[in-house]
Amino acid sequence: MDVEQQSPVTMEAIVALAKRRGFIYPGSDIYGGLANTWDFGPLGVEIKRNIKNAWWQYFVHRRADVVGLDGGILLHPKVWEASGHISEFFDPLIDCRNCRARYRADTLVEEKLGQPAEGLSTAELTTILHEANLACPVCGQRTWTDVRQFNLMFQTHLGPIEESGTEVYLRPETAQNIFVNYKNVTQTTRVKIPFGIAQIGKAFRNEITPGNFIFRVLELEQMEIEYFIRAADWDESFTHWLDEMAAFYKWVGLKQDRLRVREHEEDELSHYSMRTIDYEYKFPFGWKELSGLAYRTDFDLQRHQEYSGVDLTYFDQVNDERFVPHVIEPTMGVERLLLTLILDAYNEESVTDVNGKPYERTVLKLHPRIAPYKAAVLPLSRKPELTGKAMEIVRELRQYISVEYDETQSIGRRYRRQDEIGTPFCVTVDFETLEDDAVTVRDRDSMEQERVPISELTALLRGRLDQ
Ligand code: GAP
Repeated sequence: MDVEQQSPVTMEAIVALAKRRGFIYPGSDIYGGLANTWDFGPLGVEIKRNIKNAWWQYFVHRRADVVGLDGGILLHPKVWEASGHISEFFDPLIDCRNCRARYRADTLVEEKLGQPAEGLSTAELTTILHEANLACPVCGQRTWTDVRQFNLMFQTHLGPIEESGTEVYLRPETAQNIFVNYKNVTQTTRVKIPFGIAQIGKAFRNEITPGNFIFRVLELEQMEIEYFIRAADWDESFTHWLDEMAAFYKWVGLKQDRLRVREHEEDELSHYSMRTIDYEYKFPFGWKELSGLAYRTDFDLQRHQEYSGVDLTYFDQVNDERFVPHVIEPTMGVERLLLTLILDAYNEESVTDVNGKPYERTVLKLHPRIAPYKAAVLPLSRKPELTGKAMEIVRELRQYISVEYDETQSIGRRYRRQDEIGTPFCVTVDFETLEDDAVTVRDRDSMEQERVPISELTALLRGRLDQ
């Protein structure tokens, strides 16, 4: 079979596929949507679970030095004072006085003026934007406010009355649950430095300019590890985690040529970080952050020790030594990785079949670990003798892997449906099956077909899928 690749993937193609095939829907869709919120449909939720399971397997179960945690979304307000999020977690905001459109000032400077803006003060951003006399991208007027800072944490109130002293915040990062439970974990388990605590969970950010589909959302899931070390070991540990992140990306099938690392400049480092490296991916809208690795020093534990009055030192019995550990933090966002994996796997191909007949197919070449369904079972016709046999196979395979059953439309169309959602294998039950007790297994990527005895099917698929 001949295969010819079409032009590079666009965001429009991904958004359309995501809605059409039930990966991702606009949030509150029947009410016209709620800006920048998204719901994950039957296929999206499978990919999300696969990403989280793969991450947990790779970074927690595979290692002897990382344990898990599942902390709450609401934490004591003092946590955010101690962590610096109340005083530091801001984005610069600017409004158009005419149409009230609201922008992140640094993004405007970067995207409309082509100037780097990381780390610039509000005064500097105001001067640059006023001097450039930029037209508002929405209404075309040039009537800007000054730039001011905007805290990204969502606030709510504990109890029935919204009064001072009842404010709490939805966590903007999962990391802080780990720091506030660090002492609990060291006291209730046998962890010894160096060790990590891992958590997957929701975080919330009142982003001013979300967008690019699920790249930047208000409600996200993070997969984070705080790895506790001695200060002297930070450099070596940092390199180790940078390599681990790269190895994980390979393990879930991300292409290496669209991935790069970028070191943060000093003036763009977060308030808690002494060194940060981002993994960046080449999205259709440019090279952007996929995930990050930060050396958070002992900043968080020191601050929590100070604000809570609780001793957070670690006692090393072997060396009879007491110290506040330092921390290396690898962090990834689930939605952003999901978008990346779909973009990376998306292909439009012009194909010529075995009979020389040309056709177009869209195929998601997702790694089997990530694909929503691992196999589809397709009876060639709806005749009961074929559907009955097919259902027997489905019941057997479903004990081990996620399987879709489909008996509608022509076989060619059904293959194309499965290609489009990334199903690695199609199993076709035909009239010959009734005689030879064998089925045809079609490989999604090569489109090659082979005849396999039903008695060997489960072992063959599980072997190829490594499941
Ligand atoms: N604990 C460190 C931390 O939260 P971050 O760089 O702000 O660091 C970590 O976020 C990761 O979370 C990012 O690399 C990205 O993958 C994801 N992320 C952050 N904000 C996001 C948003 N608004 N929408 C989607 N993903 C986001």
